[in-house]
Amino acid sequence: METSETIVVNGGHHLEGDVQIAGAKNSVLKLMAASVMASGQTCIHNVPDISDVSVMQEVLKALGAQVSTEDDQDGGGHTLYIDTADLTTYVTPYDLVAQMRASISILGPLIARFGRARVAMPGGCRIGARSLDLHISSLESLGVTFDMDHGYIQAEAPDGLSSCEVLLDYPSVGATENLMMAATVADGDTHISNAAREPEIADLADFLNGMGADVEGAGSPNIVIHGVKELHPTEHTTVGDRIEAGTFLVAGALCGGPVHARGIDPDFLALPLKKLAQMGCDIETNDDVITVSRNGDIEPVDLQTLPHPGFPTDLQAQFMVLSSLAQGNSIVTENVFENRFMFASELGRMGADIRIDAHHALISGVDHLEGAPVEASDLRGGAALVLAGLAAEGESRVSHVEYIDRGYEDFVGKLRGLGAGVTRVPAPAD
Ligand code: EPZ
Repeated sequence: METSETIVVNGGHHLEGDVQIAGAKNSVLKLMAASVMASGQTCIHNVPDISDVSVMQEVLKALGAQVSTEDDQDGGGHTLYIDTADLTTYVTPYDLVAQMRASISILGPLIARFGRARVAMPGGCRIGARSLDLHISSLESLGVTFDMDHGYIQAEAPDGLSSCEVLLDYPSVGATENLMMAATVADGDTHISNAAREPEIADLADFLNGMGADVEGAGSPNIVIHGVKELHPTEHTTVGDRIEAGTFLVAGALCGGPVHARGIDPDFLALPLKKLAQMGCDIETNDDVITVSRNGDIEPVDLQTLPHPGFPTDLQAQFMVLSSLAQGNSIVTENVFENRFMFASELGRMGADIRIDAHHALISGVDHLEGAPVEASDLRGGAALVLAGLAAEGESRVSHVEYIDRGYEDFVGKLRGLGAGVTRVPAPAD
C-alpha cells in the first residue's frame, strides 16, 4: 500500500513565470479506451504522467493490450504506445473500475470491437452518484442489450450495432463519448442531439477520424457519426488540459503573477478568463499561451457551473478560493454535481466565510486566510486547498495528495517553478 503524502505550503510567496500545461486527462483517458476498437499499435503524444492514466493502462493490459511509454522529445509530455492486436477478453476487472469510474469509457469501444462487454459497475464518488442511465439508454438505441450481473454491466449486441437518433436528456460528457465511439462502426448514420460540447469531445472525434471513422459536428450540440466497416490504429497528440491550466491561472490570480500557462488553447477557457477579468485580473492570450496577473483587489463575482461552454464544474473549487478573498460577497451555484462543495468546510478551517445552501455557496470575502492542516477528499478540491495555502498566511499541510496526483502531473514541482514555497512529505505515521 503506497503511503499517503502531504503537501506542505508556506503561504505568501509571490508567484510568476512559465508553466507547461500537460495533455488533457479528460481526453487522453477516452483516447486510450478508443484504441481497443482497432487492431494494431496506436500512438498518443502529450500524455500526462498521472495516476488515472496509469489505471487506464492497467485496464488495457487486463484486456490483453501491450502498453509502453516514453518521454516526448519536444516537451514535458509522454508518449503512449498501445498495441491491441492480441486482446484476450472483453471483461474489465472490478478493482480497476472501482479505482477510477472513467474506466466506464471502455464500454462503448469493447462493444464495438467484440459485440459485447462486461464492465464492473463503477461506484459513485465523493462528488456525486455519477449514474450511468444516459450511457446505457444511448447504447440501447444502437441495439445493445444490458444485464446487471453480480456488480457487472453485461452488454451484448446480438444483431450488431444499428444506427439511431439519440436526443440526450442531459449533455453528458461520458454518455456522448461512449455513444460516439460505439456508433463509429454501426451501420448507417447515427445522430446525437443535445450532445456534450466540451473540447475533449472534439479531440476524441479527431482521434476517431484518424482511425478511419467519419464523425462530424463534435463540439456542437449535434453530432453525426457515419458508420464505417473497420477502424485502424492512429497517431495523435492530445490537446492541452484546460482544467490544469485554469488551476495555475488561479494561482497567478491569487499570488500576483504574471503566470504564463503554455500549451493551452485560450478558447477552451473563454468563460473562466472572462470571470478572472471581472475579478480584477489582467489577461493576455495568444495561440497557445494564457497569461494572468493581478495587482489590485479581488472583486466578487457570481458563478454558476454548467456544461461547456458554461463555467466548468472542475474549476469551481479553485475559483471559490479566489472568491473567499474578494472585497464583498459572491454566490457560487453548482449545477453539474450534487455534492461538490465538500472542500468548502476545509477552506473554512483556513478562515474562509462560506455558507452552503444545497447547490448554492454564499461566500463572504475575508481579509486573509490562515494556514492550517487540511484534508483533500477529491481531485479538484484538493488542488484548491493547495491554492488556498499559497495565498494564506503561515503554513498549511494538505494531506491525501493521492487525490491530486490523479489529475496533476508534478503539481508541486510546477508550483515551485513559479516561486511557491511547497514541498511533498510522507504523511505522519499515524
Ligand atoms: C466528465 O465526467 C469529467 N471526467 C469530469 O471531470 C467533469 O466534471 C464532467 O465530465 C463534467 O464536465 C472525465 O472526463 C473522466 P457527465 P462525466 O456525464 O463524463 C450526471 C475531473 O475532476 N449523469 O457530463 O462523468 C452525472 O451524475 C472530473 O476531472 C447522469 O445522471 O460527466 C453528473 O451529475 C470530475 N447520468 C452530470 O450528469 C448519466 O448517464 C455530469 O456528468 C451520466 C451523467
